Amino acid sequence: MGQLGQPLKVGGIEVSNRFLRSATMENMAGANGQVRRDLLRLYHDLAVGGCGLIITGATAVTLEGRAWAQQLGVWDDAQVEGLSRLARLIHSANPAARCAVQLHHAGSAGGGYSYGSLAQGFDLNQATEEQIKDLAHAFGLAAARVREAGFDAVAMHGAHGYLVSQFFSPFFNQRQDDWGGSRENRARLFLLVQQEIQAEAGKDFPVLWKVNTDDFLEQGAGPDDYTWLAGELAQAGAALIELSGGVKEQVKLRNRLRREAGDKEAYFLPHLQAFRQAVGDTPLAITGGMRSRQAMEAVLAAGADMVGLSRPLISEPDLPNRLLHGPDRRRSRCTSCNKCLLSIAAEPLCCLEFDPFEKVIKDL
Ligand SMILES: Cc1cc2nc3c(=O)[nH]c(=O)nc-3n(C[C@H](O)[C@H](O)[C@H](O)COP(=O)(O)O)c2cc1C
Ligand code: SF4
Repeated sequence: MGQLGQPLKVGGIEVSNRFLRSATMENMAGANGQVRRDLLRLYHDLAVGGCGLIITGATAVTLEGRAWAQQLGVWDDAQVEGLSRLARLIHSANPAARCAVQLHHAGSAGGGYSYGSLAQGFDLNQATEEQIKDLAHAFGLAAARVREAGFDAVAMHGAHGYLVSQFFSPFFNQRQDDWGGSRENRARLFLLVQQEIQAEAGKDFPVLWKVNTDDFLEQGAGPDDYTWLAGELAQAGAALIELSGGVKEQVKLRNRLRREAGDKEAYFLPHLQAFRQAVGDTPLAITGGMRSRQAMEAVLAAGADMVGLSRPLISEPDLPNRLLHGPDRRRSRCTSCNKCLLSIAAEPLCCLEFDPFEKVIKDL
């Protein structure tokens, strides 16, 4: 079966295989960020499809921190009931599936993966110490709600040029106080958020961090900064570190990285060894570009613990079962065309390239 089918322990939880559903914005929540039926169906299909660890799309920890109007929210106790239905649905659809909610605040405008996102009113360079600490606390309170709702873990969006990632990137962070300048200062928000989550949700509740390997910008943070940051997070108790990259213009960046990676597919793989040295035994996932079983097995053979997938699971939620149990083990049909991403602000998440319904309405 190869390593893809092997179980793994992540911060005390048993994950049944090495497939990680990397957080993917759904654009399916109600106007108050609440769970709705479409969203339940999406996660039902992912759970039945055999993915070992499922992370929801970016879920806002404050109303003002949303990047999209139909983004899921966890800023209010009233949202716990819907989230609890979601956790129960995933666990009942597949008792082996483990799940986490990804916590998110969009931060200042100009970064992120958010094509067509809402205008952001926040300016990280003008934020007061009190505002920053309140935001860190909001992540802690949100994590406590995630635990109360019955999820197995919480995931932190520390990548892609949103709030937390912006603090670490000199491209965004020009602060002259204790929150800017040295990498220790720029990492303060990451570590404060980790502490707040542990204080509010409990030290035994696993925290999964998605971080960049590189901002891929001259004025941004680079691989040395990020391997150091991952080491700090591992020491602070992160249960898993997921490697990603970039802070803006992601479509252009990813298309270039994909071409450069060629048959290896996994374009952040060259960073693996440096991160492994920095984080020791903490589980590492790599996300980005993988479409074939061979490339996924190669990533695990190189020392990663999990393979993160986003677009292949939009197109085929049952891809893990198909690749693990066959008989059809062909590569994912996802062509990385990014139509799903470019329409995410306007349409609920779907594979615009292959969903038969999309073909029908296009011709109307
Ligand atoms: C439609 C869409 C929505 C995404 N939403 C999120 C998100 O909410 N949080 C996040 O961390 N990454 C998000 N991403 C990035 C993916 O998690 C992933 O890192 C990236 O697509 C590369 O992996 P892939 O080649 O398997 O798609 C999104 C990507 C797409 C295409
Ligand atoms: S729309 Fe394109 S990138 Fe998105 S899942 Fe479908 S094939 Fe993949």
